[in-house]
Parts: sequence; C-alpha cells; structure tokens
Amino acid sequence: MGETLLAAEAGSSGRRPLEGRVALVTGSGRGLGRTIAEALMRLGADLVLHDINEQAPAQFGEFESLSALAAALTRNASRAMAVTGDITDNAAVEKMVAAGQDQLGPISILVNCAGGDIGARGTKPNPNTPTDFEVEDVQAVVNRNLIGTMLMCRAIAPGMAARQQGSIVNVGSVSAHAGIATEVGYACAKAAVLHYTRCLALEMRPHGVRVNAISPGPAKTARFLATRETDPVMMEEGPSLVRYGTPSEIADAVSFLSSDDARFVSGQVLRVDGGAGLYPG
Ligand SMILES: NC(=O)c1ccc[n+]([C@@H]2O[C@H](COP(=O)([O-])OP(=O)(O)OC[C@H]3O[C@@H](n4cnc5c(N)ncnc54)[C@H](O)[C@@H]3O)[C@@H](O)[C@H]2O)c1
Repeated sequence: MGETLLAAEAGSSGRRPLEGRVALVTGSGRGLGRTIAEALMRLGADLVLHDINEQAPAQFGEFESLSALAAALTRNASRAMAVTGDITDNAAVEKMVAAGQDQLGPISILVNCAGGDIGARGTKPNPNTPTDFEVEDVQAVVNRNLIGTMLMCRAIAPGMAARQQGSIVNVGSVSAHAGIATEVGYACAKAAVLHYTRCLALEMRPHGVRVNAISPGPAKTARFLATRETDPVMMEEGPSLVRYGTPSEIADAVSFLSSDDARFVSGQVLRVDGGAGLYPG
C-alpha cells in the first residue's frame, strides 16, 4: 500500500508552481484521482482529497483509508485533508466543498475524476449496448459521470469566477470520441462531460477561469487491473506507445492543464492515449 511514495518527494525538485493554491480532486482516494492529487501536491498545491467513503482507497488495495492517505500526504510540504460524499447528491457536494474551503481556503483547482462505468447495482451494467440496456443503469452512469461533474462545477466555478482565478479539468475517456457498441451509457455520459466542459469554458471565459478535459486511454490503475483480463503485450512499458498508459502519464497531463503553463488553454480536450485515436476532433 502507498507504493507510489505518496508526495514524499513533494518539492524535492525545488519547483512548486502551485504553492499557495488549493486543489480538490474528486475520486482521489485511489486510481487516477489519487495519482493526480499526488502530482498536484508535488507541484506545491494543498489538497482536498475526496472519495465516496473512507473505505474506497482499500477496495483494490491501494491504501487503508482516505483519512490515512490524507495524513500520509500531510507529512510533507503541502497540506491534505479528506472529505467524503456522493458527487451525485447536491447536499453532499455543497457540504464537502464548504468543509474543504473552510479548512484550506478557496479552491482554485478542481479536477473531476470520480466516475466510471458502474450501474444501478454497483457493478458494470449488463446488458450494456445501444439497443440492450437497463434504463436504471444508464441513469446511474449518467449521474455518476455527468451530473456529479456538473454539481461539483456548479458548487465551485462561481467562486473561481468571482476571484478571477481557477482551473477545472474534467476527466472524460477515449470511449467518448468514437461510436462504441459496448459501454453505451458510459460512452454517452463521457461525451456529455466533454461537451459540458466546452459550455462551462464559454461561460467562464470572461472571468479568467479555464475549463478543460482529458480523455485517458486504458490506464493501469489498481481497479483496471483487478477487473479485466489484460493483454500482456499492452502491459509492457517500453518505448512503444502501443500499450496501456500509466496513472502518472495521465496525471502529468492534468498537472499541465492545471498549471500556468496552460494559462491560455481553455475549452480543450486532451486525449492522453499514446496516439491510439488518430482522428480529428
Ligand atoms: N483507468 C482507466 O483506464 C480509465 C480510462 C478512461 C477514463 N477513466 C476515468 O478516470 C476516472 C478514474 O478512473 P480509475 O480507473 O482511477 O477508477 P477508480 O474506480 O479507481 O476511481 C474512481 C474513483 O471515483 C470514486 N467515485 C465513483 N463514483 C463516485 C460517486 N458517485 N461519488 C463519489 N466518488 C465516486 C470511486 O470511489 C473511486 O475512488 C473515472 O472517471 C474513469 O471513468 C479511466
């Protein structure tokens, strides 16, 4: 557990461009969210870690609990705290955002990473195709990916606009970009996340708040590895780009979009898939 050394190297490069900024990363108890949170902390940000409950980091063996993760990260140069709640529940969203801002200060970086192809029964929907699906599954997937992202943005973006500073990165998926005959609710929900990103970017443009998205290709999180049969060739980490991504490769793209290096970039979708989707748009 804690194999990525957390943010132990926080600041060791001496470069802390996000120092003084507070970031909230949804779903940061494990997987991509956790790696993104640690990357932002290494760049100096204080972190509001979030997950649906305290136990989420333990589900695939990444860390014992969300609070334990926050405590481990706080030992280093930046501060971290934990909030829990369901992003599809507006009251929970408002409570989590208030708790984070009360303790660490105004949030100027938001990364909406919580999501996944999880249906009404808490597992992958089955059936899951354009003509064969359960309405309840599609609704659950849309809530988890699109509505949760919209509620988080609605709770945080107006404050960023008032302060005229902020960056939001929403996590899409390569499933959002081309027609896909499986994972239909997920593909459509992620496509909607990308379009919501553009709509919000337009509204935020005069206020200096940037809103972007990334679309990861398959990436080797603990959940990803535990829930499918992987292709041994794609597991190899050599110079070839024909492989699964690593969580840190996804996190680096989020770090870029969250930083001033991307200060004139807004409304964009960055596909982080090793060039797997070579088409326009
Ligand atoms: N890993 C990949 O291959 C991959 C590829 C493309 C996109 N993505 C997207 O990246 C994000 C992270 O995926 P991951 O692979 O790290 O998965 P993961 O399951 O390890 O992480 C998702 C996190 O979101 C949390 N979460 C889910 N629903 C929630 C809710 N309603 N309220 C609060 N928290 C909730 C989970 O508890 C978990 O901590 C997801 O949005 C996923 O769709 C992942």
